[in-house]
Amino acid sequence: MLKVLFVCLGNICRSPAAEGVFRNLCQKQGTASRFVIDSAGTAAYHVGASPDARMQAAARSRGVELGGLRGRQTVVDDFHKFDIIIAMDASNMANLQGLKPATSTAQLVMMLDYGHSTLQEVPDPYYGGADGFEQVLDLLEDACLDFHRQFVSH
Ligand code: 4NP
Repeated sequence: MLKVLFVCLGNICRSPAAEGVFRNLCQKQGTASRFVIDSAGTAAYHVGASPDARMQAAARSRGVELGGLRGRQTVVDDFHKFDIIIAMDASNMANLQGLKPATSTAQLVMMLDYGHSTLQEVPDPYYGGADGFEQVLDLLEDACLDFHRQFVSH
């Protein structure tokens, strides 16, 4: 069993999309029982909020339903509950490193350490156009497939 937490800034665009894409992939591959999957944001702005309507629509058109998710902020306890914490960008990573207690054995990685993109960060789509949401989903599908393959082959 691997406990995975996806993290972005607001927990309404990138990390809920990563949670949904990864859960959908596990369901399709029959590996859902091998994972606990969650997401959170380093900021508190959108605690309790549904994922951004633009991201929900873009994900839904790819067969990924995000409507039941609600925003929450990362907490110190996440570093004890999860085995691997996956940051979307370098700013999220810096925030997580600052929050991580010395006693935590959780692994902290970047989402695009996985997959084939030449980008190192999943771009924040919040202030951009519709293309940004499609790009995020393209990046997440590729990275999640690679992450899943690496874990399941171990
Ligand atoms: P996310 O996107 O980190 O992918 O959820 C954002 C959502 C909200 C804000 C910034 C980024 N915001 O500034 O409110």
